Amino acid sequence: MTDFALRVIAWQKQHGRHDLPWQNTINPYVIWVSEIMLQQTQVTAVIGYFLRFMVRFPDIASLANATQEEVLQYWSGLGYYSRARNLHQAAQKITRDFSGIFPHQFSDILSLSGIGRSTAAAISTFAFNIPQPILDGNVKRVFARHFLIEGWTGTPKIEAQLWQIAELHMPTIDASPYTQGLMDLGATICTRTKPKCQVCPLLSSCGAYIHKRESKLPTPKPRKPIPLKQTTMLILRCGNEILLEKRPSNGIWGGLWSFPEIEAHEIATEIAYSKFGLNVEPEEPLENIEHAFTHFKLAITPQPLIVLYQPKRLVSNTIWLPIEDAIDAAIPAPVRGILNKLNMSQS
Ligand code: ADE
Ligand code: SF4
Repeated sequence: MTDFALRVIAWQKQHGRHDLPWQNTINPYVIWVSEIMLQQTQVTAVIGYFLRFMVRFPDIASLANATQEEVLQYWSGLGYYSRARNLHQAAQKITRDFSGIFPHQFSDILSLSGIGRSTAAAISTFAFNIPQPILDGNVKRVFARHFLIEGWTGTPKIEAQLWQIAELHMPTIDASPYTQGLMDLGATICTRTKPKCQVCPLLSSCGAYIHKRESKLPTPKPRKPIPLKQTTMLILRCGNEILLEKRPSNGIWGGLWSFPEIEAHEIATEIAYSKFGLNVEPEEPLENIEHAFTHFKLAITPQPLIVLYQPKRLVSNTIWLPIEDAIDAAIPAPVRGILNKLNMSQS
């Protein structure tokens, strides 16, 4: 075992995290769900979602048998919804192709939707004690600093170099505390800003610390400015009910319910009539909401429209819901924000 691995393991056992809700189990389903939720989301944001998800979908069968709608409902607000769709799809594949039993073979785990090499490795290590090296964002940062790797960690060359380091140091015993230790170090000590080098078990051998490069590494991605897009959401309201439209399964918020949207050049009242057959009275637009995605920012103008007469026909993929029910549906976070505002202003 390398000295690096020894120190990570000793530190994890003494100072690492041991009581997260997905620890102290080797149930691969539980570990899988947690790893997917943790892919792009911080521990504190994940815990509540994870606990609710586990009550409703306690095993592979209950997840596979659920509708996508309900899975998305439990994911609503967590973001990156392809994770939920892939999780659901993978549960059905396990039911179909692996007799409902989570596969032990690394290549089989890797074949499931939404599971890449690092996630497959974490599951393999934690659930089956079959050591496989991980390399997520936090671990890339620890490696890039400790082993003094210059250059953006997303380039194939640097990434290959980091995987080599991951393979080299992966121990065959204590694989779980080692892997958890890397995650814990990245999340609690070797943080993106202001790393706590003085309490780091790797301080004495850390290349970045020795060369005063810890605040410069990992080298950031060369960034283009993030574009700002605009959309207008139609808040079609009839009494206490509002109209939601199901978004197409590809693209942002795929499969979620949201307000109908119009382009900047379109006129809200005209679209309400031509698309939904509704006679409406416009109100003042609400304050813009900004929502950040990975590749762009979205400025949302919520345009309230009072529907004068109960609709006669219902356009497909739309639904009228009381505001309180809409808040609990499978909706993206900014839509929930708008609904909460409407709910407060009327009560
Ligand atoms: N991030 C990714 N996997 C994790 C885990 N098992 N515990 C804490 N944070 C994580
Ligand atoms: Fe990160 Fe500092 Fe530890 Fe180096 S010494 S691994 S930079 S926390």
